[in-house]
Formats: sequence, C-alpha cells, structure tokens
Amino acid sequence: MKSQQTSESSSVINEIRTLKKKKNAIALVHYYQSPEIYEIADFIGDSYELSVQASKTSADMIIFCGVRFMAESAKILNPGKKVVLPAVTAGCPMAETADASAVLAMKARYPEAAVVSYMNTTAEVKAVSDIVCTSSNAHIIVNSLPNRQIIFVPDKNLGSWVAEKSSKEIILWNGFCYVHNKFMADELARARKLLPDAKVVVHPECPKEIRDQADHVCSTSGMVKYVEKSDAKEFIIGTEMGLIEMLKKKFPDRKFYAVPPGGTCLTMKKNRLDLVLESLKTGEPEINVPEEIRVKAKMSLDRMLEVCK
Ligand code: 13P
Ligand code: SF4
Repeated sequence: MKSQQTSESSSVINEIRTLKKKKNAIALVHYYQSPEIYEIADFIGDSYELSVQASKTSADMIIFCGVRFMAESAKILNPGKKVVLPAVTAGCPMAETADASAVLAMKARYPEAAVVSYMNTTAEVKAVSDIVCTSSNAHIIVNSLPNRQIIFVPDKNLGSWVAEKSSKEIILWNGFCYVHNKFMADELARARKLLPDAKVVVHPECPKEIRDQADHVCSTSGMVKYVEKSDAKEFIIGTEMGLIEMLKKKFPDRKFYAVPPGGTCLTMKKNRLDLVLESLKTGEPEINVPEEIRVKAKMSLDRMLEVCK
C-alpha cells in the first residue's frame, strides 16, 4: 500500500526509518492516521491490537501515532519504555468528557455496579474503573463480570450497543464521539437504496439508528477482516475517513463509500511526518503517568487483556 510521496516526504520517511533502527524504536499507528504515517508504521491496528503490541514490545521507544489515551495506555502497560506522542495536543474529545471524580460520584450512586471504562478514557478514569474494554471486546468484557449493574463510561452509543448484547443493566454515561455521532440515518437509508448490493459496516460508536441499518457492527480492525472475508464488491462504511481511505488502497477492486456525511477525527490527523521525525530525535513529547495512577489503571487494563487472551 503506497501513498503518493513527494521527494521531500520520502526523504523524511527514510530518515525516520533509519532513526527508528538506531534508537530501537517502533511506531504503533492507529487506522485513523493519515496515509503518510502508515508509511513509517511497524504495526497498524485498532486500539485493542495496539495496546497488545505496546504491552509486549522489546523496543526502547514507542512512537505512538494515535491520540493521547492510546499513548497513555502504552505507558501504563509497559512503563519501562519511553512513549512519545508526536502531536502533543492529539486528544480524544470523548475521553475528555469523563473525569475520575465524576465517575466515583456515579459509583457512589450505584454501589453494586462495576465500572467498565472504554479504552477512550484518561489514565485517571481507568484507575477508578474495574475493567477496561475496547470496541472489539466491550460486550465480552461486560458479560464476563459477575455484577448485574454496569456503569459504562463514556460512550453512550457503544454502551447502548453492549446493552443490546447483554441481559445486564447498563448505566450510560452521556459521552459520544463527534465523528460517529453525526452520521445521518435518513441519508444512510437513501444510500442503501442507491447501492442495494453494498454491505453496510459500521463502528459501535455510531448511534442506534445507524447500527440498526448495518449488516455488521465492529471495531476498525473488524471492518478490515469483514471486507477480507466478504464476496461483496461495494461497502458503505460508518467510521472515520482514514480507515475508508486505507480500505480503498488495500482492496482496489472494491468500492468503499462513507456513511453520509462522512467524518474526520481532527485530532488523530495532528500527527505528521515532521513531528514523528522530531520526536525520534528528541524523545519528546514524552507521555508519563503518575505511578500511583499507573498501577491502578494497569490493573484495569490487565483484566481486559486476561479476559481476551
Ligand atoms: P477502535 O477501538 O476501533 O480502534 O476505535 C478507537 C476509536 O477511537 C474509534 O473512534
Ligand atoms: Fe475520539 Fe472519536 Fe477521534 Fe475516536 S474518532 S479518537 S472516539 S474523537
């Protein structure tokens, strides 16, 4: 999969590759990154797969091309490594809707409930949670718990999807992803009529009216696997544009359309090649998590990895 490279970007790419070797660094890249960032990836994946890679790498430095909660999770799981987020302001607005004190206040109202926090949360929220989940395993994690009540933080859409797959009482937080929440159900219905043979595949961060029209609901890497196995020639995809662009390149004989109006995660796109190069040279901006929070957050992440192994 080659993106169109200028001679300037290909010289930066070569410099990054050389420096990665010299510094024993790896680049973990989320599917929503720009095509230029794919070029320097050692591993491309969804948030669950990237956390597994981070937990087992023997590299000295992890260059995390994603958003802050992903880089924080890498540091939590593998504290001996230097973790760097090239664009220091690359945050997830949804993760920032939940803070630890509000989660604890919710827990005090439902003392019997387990707190399941989505990977898209701060380290502080993970530290006060019972277990973490990602979009690829949220229903498995919830159903693995003995508690009848579950406080699900922070995505109300993912939480409502889990509620459909579980007999437990799911208490929803009022967060959502601005990229997935804005897909339009009536426009999707129109697209389905125009493309009757297309398979509709959407992320569980989409609202119910979108999920209900889908042939399949899954995480970003679940989408890649679904397309790989499917005989269909056309797909309408409900997630961030980066994944759709990647699918177009990986499967040039198929057609991919976005659920209208499409969506770009602006903070994911803040990582750029020049920032990656700078990070490799300087080891900055480094992501650190206070030890007391890290140890507790690691317990919640380890529980997820244990359930899913
Ligand atoms: P994945 O778990 O599918 O990687 O999704 C992460 C994310 O931020 C989706 O918006
Ligand atoms: Fe956060 Fe949405 Fe961006 Fe994912 S796509 S990182 S949930 S804002």
